[in-house]
Amino acid sequence: MANRLKEDLVEAGKIGREPERRVEQYDHLEPERGVNRLACTEANRKLRDYAVMRMKEAGLEVKIDKIGNIFARKEGIKTSTGSIMCGSHLDSVPNGGQFDGCLGVFGAIEAIRRMTEDSFDNERPVEVVVFTGEEGPAFGMSLLGSSALVGKINMAEALGKNNTAGQTLDEALREINYKGDFTRTLEDVEYMVELHIEQGPVLHKENIPIGIVENIAGITWLMVTIKGEGNHAGTTPMKMRKDALVTASEIVSFVNRRANEIVDKLGSVTVGTVGKLNVFPNGTNSIPAKVEMGIDIRDVVKENMDSLKSEVVKFINGLGGKYGVDAEIQMPPLHFPTPLSAEVVNIIEQSAKQVGIQTKRMNSGAGHDSQNMAEKVKTGMIFVPSVNGISHSPMEWTEWEDIETGVHVLTQTLKNLSKT
Ligand code: GLV
Ligand code: MN
Ligand code: MN
Repeated sequence: MANRLKEDLVEAGKIGREPERRVEQYDHLEPERGVNRLACTEANRKLRDYAVMRMKEAGLEVKIDKIGNIFARKEGIKTSTGSIMCGSHLDSVPNGGQFDGCLGVFGAIEAIRRMTEDSFDNERPVEVVVFTGEEGPAFGMSLLGSSALVGKINMAEALGKNNTAGQTLDEALREINYKGDFTRTLEDVEYMVELHIEQGPVLHKENIPIGIVENIAGITWLMVTIKGEGNHAGTTPMKMRKDALVTASEIVSFVNRRANEIVDKLGSVTVGTVGKLNVFPNGTNSIPAKVEMGIDIRDVVKENMDSLKSEVVKFINGLGGKYGVDAEIQMPPLHFPTPLSAEVVNIIEQSAKQVGIQTKRMNSGAGHDSQNMAEKVKTGMIFVPSVNGISHSPMEWTEWEDIETGVHVLTQTLKNLSKT
């Protein structure tokens, strides 16, 4: 593979890892030492700067919009045709992996470098895009940059969201120097393509190099705060407690049990997870006074997602009386289950065939900015295998030859889309 793409991904994987360290092979990964590059942190800035440098070296014109999305454009030989956007995100989950998001950004830059080196005359402009805050943990909502770009939430609302340090997104963007003034509408955009790791087991298990995404699961988040009563663990009789964590533990079990039961009954791909739990004051000899929890519910069928969500809300509201606690539920705007463009799916499939690569059509259980983009422009996604299906973990890995196959198919896809 072109060493420069591997170099970009290894450098990206260094940023946000403590201590900074280059990881070039799977058996050098460490389970406790992933990347921490939450949206608008210093590590996120550092990687943005690195990507922008690479974009400029590739001859692209770089612009930043009001929510810190980065656009880097290669003009096309026809000025009147709509452009192709191609990219992903550079933020990570806490203790995440080296490829989630980065592959889509650096893969897009690499594809453009290859087109230029091949002296390929793209008719449509091709634009690398980096979305702000794809992962939700920093500002309590996922797909932030793309949600603002497609108008799903208004800019002021998005910029007003707070991180755990109490900083607004607007302030955090200014601090990392990515508060731009460019206004990007999508009127002149025809296509969006995102290259991404699968983050699931299918391709690796079936030994298929490329997945083509037909549907992306919807995502509902319930951010729950349970307020009980803090007290002494030794002196407070069992019958006089208002324990926020005991309440939370019932919710954790309920979400898991009901999601399993729905899958058993419907054969659906429903998933329910409590991935976040903050306990206050978090001392062994103190009764938990407050718990903050984050619940993630997904399905490719909206009704399944909605019905599990309603059940969970009802269950939570019913627990207050049992434990004497108050529960407050906040719901950021949900992301709908989204079919991707059949036209782009076909073009990716043909492009892979043209370069002799086997593909499989599949769904994505992970969320992506592409699901927002698909509401406005014709959108497709290319997946490459994740070793053992692991992602959102320091053990996330994709073999370099699969990365090469992915960028090869991406480059061919962009070439073909550029002439449509
Ligand atoms: C993003 O990676 C998500 O699926 O939550
Ligand atoms: Mn992710
Ligand atoms: Mn991602």
